[in-house]
Amino acid sequence: MERTMISRISDPALLGTTVEVKGWVRTRRGNKHVQFVALNDGSTIKNLQIVFDMTRFTDEQLKPITTGASLRVVGKLVESMGKGQTCEVQADEVEVYGTADPLAYPLQKKGHSLEFLREIAHLRPRTNTFGAVLRIRSALAFAIHRFFNERGFVYLNTPLITSSDAEGAGAMFQVTTLDLNNLPRTDEGRTDYSADFFGKQAALTVSGQLEGELGATALGAIYTFGPTFRAENSNTPRHLAEFWMIEPEVAFLDINGNMDLAEDFVKYCISYALQNCRDDIEFLAEMYDKELVSRLEFVTHNDFVRLTYTEGVRILEESGHKFEFPVYWGADLQSEHERYLVEEHFKKPVILTDYPAEIKAFYMKQNEDGRTVRAMDVLFPRIGEIIGGSEREENYDKLLRRIEELHIPMKDMWWYLDTRRFGTVPHSGFGLGFERLVLFVTGMTNIRDVIPFPRTPNNCEF
Ligand code: 4AD
Ligand code: MG
Repeated sequence: MERTMISRISDPALLGTTVEVKGWVRTRRGNKHVQFVALNDGSTIKNLQIVFDMTRFTDEQLKPITTGASLRVVGKLVESMGKGQTCEVQADEVEVYGTADPLAYPLQKKGHSLEFLREIAHLRPRTNTFGAVLRIRSALAFAIHRFFNERGFVYLNTPLITSSDAEGAGAMFQVTTLDLNNLPRTDEGRTDYSADFFGKQAALTVSGQLEGELGATALGAIYTFGPTFRAENSNTPRHLAEFWMIEPEVAFLDINGNMDLAEDFVKYCISYALQNCRDDIEFLAEMYDKELVSRLEFVTHNDFVRLTYTEGVRILEESGHKFEFPVYWGADLQSEHERYLVEEHFKKPVILTDYPAEIKAFYMKQNEDGRTVRAMDVLFPRIGEIIGGSEREENYDKLLRRIEELHIPMKDMWWYLDTRRFGTVPHSGFGLGFERLVLFVTGMTNIRDVIPFPRTPNNCEF
């Protein structure tokens, strides 16, 4: 007999037939005549009700069926009289794969706090909330690949271990096989990395962009989608030490095309989730955030506001609002500033462009004014920055001058400069923080709750 996933159980063709289902017990209740088990197999937020007619089963048989136990059930699928479900299974046969001692299994009751669940991250996927979040996360990953695939982008895998630390996006995690208790030394007393695995210092990547540009200047349009590592000690609800980033990079695209691409892209992903994850989104809306669905629909139906950093700073300065961090031209905007623009002033997602060169990366295209660069950050309600990107400096001399100004070691950059030496083209790209998108779509408030195994300072269980 073929197992039926619970997500498929409402298929009308199955009604009246005998089905086999497998899953984990969420609850059991009833009396001495009839027992009801809510079974969940992870394929949907919806539990399937299994009805045990106690004239056909013994108490002894049902004793191991407690919350958390895993079962196989065979029975007839019938219309349900009870409310909350359209059909149920009248059990003919039951097999218990594994029990879950009620005194030890921590997920007995509903309504555990998200903080508590973070402490049992190994079991939290078995809750309704994390089941919903992880299914939405998976659907969004699929939507991302589909979006780029439909547009002819090549999926490029950039390295996770890198010897270039040129992005300057954040502190890096070093990768080494040297014995930390007995480091080889050079004559000057420094660590001798020539003895290390790669013969030089290596680290986990903070971004695949620079390698992505190598791909874009050959394949035309590429995207990356992979893990990214930043060792900043930022303990905020929006930062992870290990997060996933999507980085498209496109030849012959300017900043305006880049903004269009970014806006189409996030709207596509959000619409995909609204269409394909309705049950999960509605569950999360009910539990955590009543405005979730209307917020998601609002974002997909409205144009993002586009304005320059300079205009944005003027609005903030003239707002009369008291910010924790001072705002002035040249300041790196904080989340509170970004959210003021999005949530209070425009009440729409905002794309800020043309930031001061000093607060942005060396590779961004320099504007004529000599002090700003063609950067673009997409700012979202509740999230702040969800995307960061730019048009790239394609002029060899200007790029080299910037690299020298910032004292970026040339030995790290020769390969990157070659893209500007041989057949250079105008090009642009951006990075979307995957977890920030999942945060927005699920209505969760802490980034630790939208990745299965969060890595943050002092937190690296399993
Ligand atoms: O703005 P960032 O640092 O940009 C880059 O890395 C560029 N190389 C992207 C590009 O142009 N190809 O990071 C991009 C996005 C941010 O907007 C944010 O959404 C996310 O990555 N992000 C993080 N997400 C979670 N935890 C962190 N520590 C993050 N740092 C950045
Ligand atoms: Mg950024």
